[in-house]
Amino acid sequence: MSENFMLQIMDISKIFGYGFLGRIKFPAVDRVSLNMEDEPKIFTIAGESGCGKTTLARIILGMIEPSSGTLLYKNKNMQKFSSKDKMLFLKEVQGVFQDPYDTFNPLKRVETYLYEAARNLLGLKDYGEASKYIDDTLKFMGLSLKDVKGKYPREFSGGEPLLKIRILRR
Ligand SMILES: Nc1ncnc2c1ncn2[C@@H]1O[C@H](COP(=O)(O)OP(=O)(O)OP(=O)(O)O)[C@@H](O)[C@H]1O
Ligand SMILES: [Mg+2]
Repeated sequence: MSENFMLQIMDISKIFGYGFLGRIKFPAVDRVSLNMEDEPKIFTIAGESGCGKTTLARIILGMIEPSSGTLLYKNKNMQKFSSKDKMLFLKEVQGVFQDPYDTFNPLKRVETYLYEAARNLLGLKDYGEASKYIDDTLKFMGLSLKDVKGKYPREFSGGEPLLKIRILRR
């Protein structure tokens, strides 16, 4: 087994408080440890409803802080990430949640996200250059910029909005 890990989750817990003043404590994630190797792989976390999968995913994405434990991304402690580390992490890791329609603002055209991603994450500031990159990538997926332009999230099928993720990952 490789010792080269992309992600190391070490003894992570998340305790939520509810009831009066949050006095009743509930462990949504209870001392989870696992390693993901730094190589292309599909890694699945399965478990019954409410066992803490989404909470763990939100911790990994930095959306919520764990109550205890340590997370290492590429051997760096994620709780001590500098803003540059955070930016690099966001370039490499994208979350896709259970409902893809939740990810997008229904009043914002989908191409806006594609141009924002091309500019902010790939440094393509020139409109023509960004358009070409987006078009090439969409064509790779069997679509084109012409098919997408002017459309809102509801005008796509359930899987199509996830193209943004593919664009970032290519
Ligand atoms: N913000 C929160 N405050 C309090 N409790 C929470 C919060 N978020 C999740 N929980 C609780 O933590 C537990 C784990 O929730 P989580 O959403 O992580 O489950 P899950 O494994 O993703 O479930 P599912 O398969 O249904 O999506 C649940 O009991 C849930 O009610
Ligand atoms: Mg869930």
